Amino acid sequence: MGRFYITTPIYYVNDAPHVGHAYTTVNADALARWHRLVGDDTKFLTGTDEHGQKVADAAEKNGVTPQEWTDRTSARFREAWDALGISYDDFIRTTEARHYQSVQKFLTAIYDNGYIYKDVYQGLYCVSCEDYYTTESSIDGKCPIHGRALTEMQEENWFFKLSAFEDRLIEFYDAHPGFVTPETKRNEALSFIKGGLRDISITRTSIDWGVPVPWDEKHVFYVWYDALINYLTAIGYGREDDEVAEWWPASHHLIGKEIIRFHCVWWPAMCMAAGLEPVSHVQVHGWLLVGGQKLSKTMAAEGGVRLTDIAPVVLTNEFGVDPIRYYLLRETVLGNDGDFSHEGITARYNTDLANNLGNLVARVTTVVNSKCAGVGPAPSASSPLRTDALVAIEDSAQAWERFAPHHALEATWGLIGATNAYLEKSAPWKMEPGPELDAVMGDALEAIRLVAILATPAMPGVCEEIWRRIGLSGRPTDERFSASAQWGLYPGGRQVQKGEPLFPRIKTDA
Ligand code: ME8
Ligand code: MG
Repeated sequence: MGRFYITTPIYYVNDAPHVGHAYTTVNADALARWHRLVGDDTKFLTGTDEHGQKVADAAEKNGVTPQEWTDRTSARFREAWDALGISYDDFIRTTEARHYQSVQKFLTAIYDNGYIYKDVYQGLYCVSCEDYYTTESSIDGKCPIHGRALTEMQEENWFFKLSAFEDRLIEFYDAHPGFVTPETKRNEALSFIKGGLRDISITRTSIDWGVPVPWDEKHVFYVWYDALINYLTAIGYGREDDEVAEWWPASHHLIGKEIIRFHCVWWPAMCMAAGLEPVSHVQVHGWLLVGGQKLSKTMAAEGGVRLTDIAPVVLTNEFGVDPIRYYLLRETVLGNDGDFSHEGITARYNTDLANNLGNLVARVTTVVNSKCAGVGPAPSASSPLRTDALVAIEDSAQAWERFAPHHALEATWGLIGATNAYLEKSAPWKMEPGPELDAVMGDALEAIRLVAILATPAMPGVCEEIWRRIGLSGRPTDERFSASAQWGLYPGGRQVQKGEPLFPRIKTDA
């Protein structure tokens, strides 16, 4: 099988993780789990971005050293990911020695290739974005994203010759139409390039919280310039454990839309400058919005949104891990903005999980217990559900492959809906025990087995539990998808357990 290397952005540790970070991380996790299920050699990387002014400021405000602060906050990200069942293979921190080594190697290569020079930087800077602005790109001297006053900066800095890559980037985009998805975001990146690129200041002397510049020790690298390289650090770039040839460039970065320019313009140019092929795919997603506002730590700090109410752990405690994962994956098409609300989670939970999936499992296990002596019958080869199952398998597999968890789950729920409709129609709860009843129940159990496989990247815990309840040993992930996702493999003759409701309904006022 193939290889699949997927990354999330590394998150700033100026503050605690929130549901916006969880959105990206859960999507990356589900995609990684899908690829493991089909048998791909998979690497899933996430981590924390620990340098820069914003983090240094947060540490100072809290009266601790930047290192203490980053240790503490980075651990909170790990805790959040543990709570959400995130199966990362590697968690990178940009303060690790391995990262310093790879960054210094990579940037020395760019320097040696003649794309770095010294000049005076003078301009506007937003600490919240850790990004540069010009008079034209700012609004009344304020950051267009955060609405905060921009800082005037004047320093002698090292610069990266981004402007030298305009033509090469355009050629790269032409030759790699799938480099950035969805296409609207690709066009956005491309028009940015076509609008003309300026060189960027990549070092600082005003702060020392950063990776030292190997050829000029008065400077540290600008935070974005070290952060992007994390994707290569994790595969050993420039070190003894170098696995770049195995994982690169056939890799995937999943990012939010506000960091397109860094990942789709700067990063491929940096790779070219270092003599490396750019990453093959950047999947961009939209923002989760609360009442139409982006959920950002910075705005929350200014009283816009109460983020403490929507920390990932608060949500998993309230709704359960798998329902939250399901909501994040199913509610919004990856690439579009989406509304985040408690009402939305509750509605998804009660409809898709309690009424559809939970009810299906409850009905089938109940009837098998009352009318089949608790022993699940085998499915039939000519079941009316067979076609629905094959369509769900095909459509959801294709959707996972094209980074569309929303559609994959929609297709999976198509099979749940078809099975519930089949049960309504045949009403096994009214039938006498016998071969006719057995045929219906065997087919329904087989549909449930397939649903447990198809939904496992999204809801690994619940799917394991369903697997167990229908009497199967091991886990839905034990066999490769190509072997297990076939109609008719539920063996029959297994003890089926009823159990507690998988998704007890949430009471609403309505
Ligand atoms: O940008 N909706 O880190 P960051 C959806 N350190 N996703 C959201 C979101 C929202 N409302 N808010 C945040 C950085 N995210 C840099 C990245 S990578 C080399 C360096 C997610 O802590 C989304 O993935 O600001 C976004 O891109 C990321 O968090 C930004 O996290
Ligand atoms: Mg941000």
